[in-house]
Amino acid sequence: MTTTPDTPGLFVVRHPLVQHKLALLRDRETPTKIFKELVDEIAMLMAYEATANLALEPCEVVTPLEQTTGARMAGKKLVLVPILRAGLGMVEGILRLIPSARVGHVGLYRDHDSLKPVDYYFKVPADTASREFFVLDPMLATGGSAVAAITRLKNAGATRIRFLCLVAAPVGVERLRAAHPDVPIIAAALDRELSANGYILPGLGDAGDRLFGTR
Ligand code: PRP
Ligand code: URA
Repeated sequence: MTTTPDTPGLFVVRHPLVQHKLALLRDRETPTKIFKELVDEIAMLMAYEATANLALEPCEVVTPLEQTTGARMAGKKLVLVPILRAGLGMVEGILRLIPSARVGHVGLYRDHDSLKPVDYYFKVPADTASREFFVLDPMLATGGSAVAAITRLKNAGATRIRFLCLVAAPVGVERLRAAHPDVPIIAAALDRELSANGYILPGLGDAGDRLFGTR
C-alpha cells in the first residue's frame, strides 16, 4: 500500500480527489443519484491504493516490434465481498479497475435497538484459501458488522482479507483490529466518534438509505 498507516493496521487514503469527493458525500443536500456516483468513484480510487502491494508475476508479451517481459497479477482472481446493502455501492467502481474480480456477498443488517449485526445471507466463490478478499462496506461504526462478516469469511477458509470502508469510527477500528489483527483497514476518513444511537459523527448518515433512497 502506498498510504502509510495512521494507527497500526489502519490506512487512510488522503488523496485530494478522495477527500474532495468525500466532502460532497457527507453533504446532507447531496441527492441519491450523486451520492451513488460518489460512492462508486471513491471506491474506485481507494481500490487503486488498496491494491498497490498485490503480487505480480512476469509474463511474456509480443509487441508489434519484438518480444518482451511484462508483469501480470499473480494468483487466482481476487474477490470483492460487499456487506449488504450499502457495500453494494462500492462494487461497480472497483470492478471497473479489476473487471476479472469475483463478487461474493455477505448479508448483514444492524438491529436498530441492540446495534448487533443480524446475519441473513452468505455466498462466496469456492477455493477461498487461495484467494485475496476485499470486504466492502462504506461504514465502520461499532465494528460489529465488519467483525461478523470477516469471521464468516474466515470460517469459510479465507486467510487473506482486507477491509475497505469510506468512513470509520475509532471504536470500530479498535474492535476490528482486536478481533482480526491480520486484516488491514483502508478508509477514506477516521471520524471523531459514534453517537449514542450508533451513528458515526460527523459521518454521512445512513449509507444504505442514502444510496438506495429508502428514507
Ligand atoms: C450499516 C453499514 C454497515 C453497518 C455498520 O448497515 O452499511 O454494514 O451499518 O455498523 P456497525 O459497524 O455498527 O456494524 P445497516 O445495518 O444499516 O444495513 P443496510 O446496509 O442494509 O442499510
Ligand atoms: N451505519 C451507517 O449507515 N451510518 C452510520 O453512521 C453508522 C452505521
